[in-house]
Amino acid sequence: MTTAKEPILDVAHLGHVELLTPKPVESLHYFTEILGMEEVHAEGPSVYLRGYGDYATTSMKLTESKDAGAGTLAWRAMSEAALMRRVAAIEATGRGEGWTNGDFGRGRSYRFTDPDGHRMEIYYEEEKYVAPPHLRSTLDNLPMKYTGKGIGVRRIDHCALLAADVPANRTFVEDALGFRLREQVMYDNGTKEIGSWMSTNNIHHQLAYVVDNKALHGRMHHFSLWVDNRDEVLRAADIFAENGIAMEAGPSKHNNSQAFYIYTIEPGGNRIEVYTSGFFVTAPDWEPVVWNEERRGTGVYWGAALPESFLDYATPNKPGAKVPAGRKIPVFDPS
Ligand SMILES: [Fe+2]
Repeated sequence: MTTAKEPILDVAHLGHVELLTPKPVESLHYFTEILGMEEVHAEGPSVYLRGYGDYATTSMKLTESKDAGAGTLAWRAMSEAALMRRVAAIEATGRGEGWTNGDFGRGRSYRFTDPDGHRMEIYYEEEKYVAPPHLRSTLDNLPMKYTGKGIGVRRIDHCALLAADVPANRTFVEDALGFRLREQVMYDNGTKEIGSWMSTNNIHHQLAYVVDNKALHGRMHHFSLWVDNRDEVLRAADIFAENGIAMEAGPSKHNNSQAFYIYTIEPGGNRIEVYTSGFFVTAPDWEPVVWNEERRGTGVYWGAALPESFLDYATPNKPGAKVPAGRKIPVFDPS
């Protein structure tokens, strides 16, 4: 018998991820031409993008900024009533900042920060994507044509954030938002929480907190987008190589999540993961899997070891720290 707490089923999924970039033109090229996302809107310093399988009008926002990093992460509530319940719970923690008018594609949103200072919002009203004629799919159940452009990421998947105090942030999102813990890394005989992987739905994790070994605040380790199978990750490696995009890690397989991955640093400096095959969790009484340092290692199940930069680099970057070079294949220069 398990004695799980009554679950809070008020948050549906990760709805919108905003990334900040000091190189907006180059970053936009990476997301549209290399990853194959579709641009749907531009406003002020921001461009709004989507994967071909995202049901919402937009799932990602790219905003010009002095430094790279995560902007606002927005979580979609299950209903208007669910939204109000979560807002009350957030307000009770003292971390609420109030209502905003939302953003392109979504209605009013309630803004808050997690204990580490990452900016988040929760909302319910979402504008569903209506494809223009040239992007209409021949499948009635696909919101947008699969164009085959670039890597062709289907949808956004998860964000991995760094936090100086992992347990404080994990318990905040568990208690205020209903996140359920899937896997965890505990060092020092189970006394030191190094990382926690969580979700509010069947996707293995939509949010991870990993300890910031620089003890800084509000930083992002990576943002991950989903493709349907391993072949597409391998094809992504070819596309990155042909376009001079440095590959920092992978293609390899994680032990926790069991996912197949490749990491690159987009031109603005953010670490981006192309990801597939993470297992889904359906058990309502799922027992979190706890890995110790010996069993987990660096999180690589098989494949090449992670470079030092993977443990060291995050955005915004620590002043003076180098952006990972990765293995960059020189691109042929016809001039
Ligand atoms: Fe990831």
